[in-house]
Amino acid sequence: PCRAASNIHRQAVSIDKQARAALKGQQPCVLWFTGLSGAGKSTIANLVEQRLHALGQHTYLLDGDNVRHGLNRDLGFSDAARAENIRRVAEVAKLMVDAGLIVLTAFISPFRAERDLARHLLAEGEFVEVFVDAPLAVAEQRDVKGLYRKARRGELKGFTGIDAPYEAPEHPELRLDTSRGTADMAADAVVALLLARGMLG
Ligand code: PPS
Repeated sequence: PCRAASNIHRQAVSIDKQARAALKGQQPCVLWFTGLSGAGKSTIANLVEQRLHALGQHTYLLDGDNVRHGLNRDLGFSDAARAENIRRVAEVAKLMVDAGLIVLTAFISPFRAERDLARHLLAEGEFVEVFVDAPLAVAEQRDVKGLYRKARRGELKGFTGIDAPYEAPEHPELRLDTSRGTADMAADAVVALLLARGMLG
C-alpha cells in the first residue's frame, strides 16, 4: 500500500477541536464498542446515542453494517480486510472528534492491534473502549441473522468466534456482561461512566 508521501505536510488550521467542541459545550470522544457478532454492540450503542441526544449532546454512530455498505464496501472479512475496515473507521472517528462530536462505533473489531491503533490516534481520555461481552454460546443462541448457523454448517467461512479469532480487550474502560443485564441497563452504565468522568456538557 501507498504510505503517506513525505512531500505531504499538515496544514495548520485556526479553528481547532477545542474551539469547535466549546461551541457545543461538550467533550468530544469516541465510545468504541467491541464484541462478537450478536453480543449487542449495535443495540447498546443505539440506546446510548438516544440517551446522549436527549441530554443535548451532538453525537454520531458509525455502525459496522452501514459503513460496510458505503465507505468500506470494497472490504470483506479476511484478517487484512478487517484491519483495514477498522483503520478507516478509526480515522473517520478521529475526524469526527476533531469536529467536536461524541462518536460511537459498533464494530466487532476483533484485533487488539487495530483497537490500540484507534486509541492512539486520539488524545488521552478521548477513547473509551467498551467491551460488549457476551459468551459465544449466548451470542450463538441469539443468532439474530442466522450467520452462526451458516458458519457451523460450513456455509460461511471465517466467521468471528467460530473459525476466525476474537481478541478480547484486556483493559477496557468498561465491560458489559450482556448475558446478565438488559440492553437498557448496559446503556445506563455507559452514560454513568461518562457522567462520572465529567465528559458530558
Ligand atoms: S469487523 O471484524 O470489525 O471488520 O466486522 P464488522 O465491520 O463489525 O462487521 C460485522 C458484521 O458483518 C456480518 N458478517 C460477519 N461477521 C463476522 N465474521 C464474518 N465472516 C462475517 N460475515 C458477515 C455480521 O452480520 C456482523 O454483524 P454484527 O452486527 O457484528 O452481528
